[in-house]
Amino acid sequence: MISLKHFHQYPADRICAAIAFKYFNHPNHQFHTNCTRCDSNQIASSYYRVNNQSAIDIAARKPSVRLTPYMILYSGKSHDGSHLLRSARYLWKELPVRIAHRIQGFRSLPFIVGCNPTILDVHELYIRAFNILNNHPPIRTHEDEEAYSQLLRNLLDDHNGVVTQLAAGFKECRKHIQNEDLVRQFCDRTLTSRLGIRLLVTHHLSLREEKPHHVGIINVSLRLKDVIEKWAEFVRRLAIHRYGRAPDIRLSGHVGSTFPYITLPLDYILPEIFKNAVRATIESHPDSSSLPSVHVTIANNEVDFIMRISDRGGGIPHNVLPKVMHYNFTTSEESTEQRLSMDPLVNMIDASHPGTGSGTVGPMHGFGFGLPTSRAYAEYLGGALTMQSLQGLGTDVYLRLKHIDSKHDAFRI
Ligand SMILES: Nc1ncnc2c1ncn2[C@@H]1O[C@H](COP(=O)(O)OP(=O)(O)OP(=O)(O)O)[C@@H](O)[C@H]1O
Ligand SMILES: [Mg+2]
Repeated sequence: MISLKHFHQYPADRICAAIAFKYFNHPNHQFHTNCTRCDSNQIASSYYRVNNQSAIDIAARKPSVRLTPYMILYSGKSHDGSHLLRSARYLWKELPVRIAHRIQGFRSLPFIVGCNPTILDVHELYIRAFNILNNHPPIRTHEDEEAYSQLLRNLLDDHNGVVTQLAAGFKECRKHIQNEDLVRQFCDRTLTSRLGIRLLVTHHLSLREEKPHHVGIINVSLRLKDVIEKWAEFVRRLAIHRYGRAPDIRLSGHVGSTFPYITLPLDYILPEIFKNAVRATIESHPDSSSLPSVHVTIANNEVDFIMRISDRGGGIPHNVLPKVMHYNFTTSEESTEQRLSMDPLVNMIDASHPGTGSGTVGPMHGFGFGLPTSRAYAEYLGGALTMQSLQGLGTDVYLRLKHIDSKHDAFRI
């Protein structure tokens, strides 16, 4: 049995045991009368949660309807805008179900973890989103669709910091979790579901805009080289700013390949892999004036496309390798990088970084979320992220992603 005193061991100062007990319907539910941290707003919102539980339960019992990118791409664009109504109606039905599934995930976290204030904040955000979306009237007219789109835009913004919050929350309560699989399962599901929701919502919002070579979020002729070069340059600039130097990032292989794909997940995964490769290269060559380049090789075929990112950053030691894909595993405490989280340039870069709204560049640094999140995204998209360490020399990262029009088991968003 977990006692109240546990809650007061948390470093953050917003935990209220009363809420935690109430929220999780714990048999020992009681108000902690001496708790100076109890806040009436939070208590009110905890009542709200309890009252609304049945709507969440009902939605959580429904299955999610996942679409292949092919279905999204070819669902047709009409002159009278009826495709927008169709898309909005799908989201109107689908989003509360997906969010309810995630709320169930938060509820089934071990009690001591689910009560971490930062994780509880995210849980709260999901409940709020559920209430807003579930109570929204059906979409009948174009005016309804316009108002619904504005609502979705606001919700996307509200949830921008969720990955960083989860990373921080799990870091705080890591010591209470023995079971690594539990963290992986929860984070994989929450983060990939979030990616899926953001893809669908961004797709709907993009359908309202005319962008060359695009149908919603799908770039019908994506030039992989351009996306890689964009993020390579971005990470190089970041490294020069933080370390004063950066290795070249060179490209070879099928550099001319062009195919339909979604840029959004690449915008998250590529900077994460480049940051790791560039950091390792710089930190393993502290005294040398010239740094070995990072090499990116592209291979494209009709089933998938593969990027191999090879660095000469010394490799990942044998004892570290099994842990690098664990959420929150990081060696950033040993880093020689300057801590610049409050740096105005980094904040500026963050604001302009479209990504998945993960806040990946500044605040995400050092949480040990880059690799496991990238792997989860790659697998969600029918691909894989694997690594080979050549201990003493460098690391090869293989990012394999399925084409969206692949005849072989298309993935679903
Ligand atoms: N290319 C690489 N060479 C050497 N070590 C690496 C490489 N990529 C990852 N690692 C090791 O794996 C650890 C985990 O990587 P991951 O990207 O998940 O987290 P992080 O970079 O420490 O923090 P974050 O990505 O959340 O900012 C790193 O701290 C580093 O020790
Ligand atoms: Mg990283």
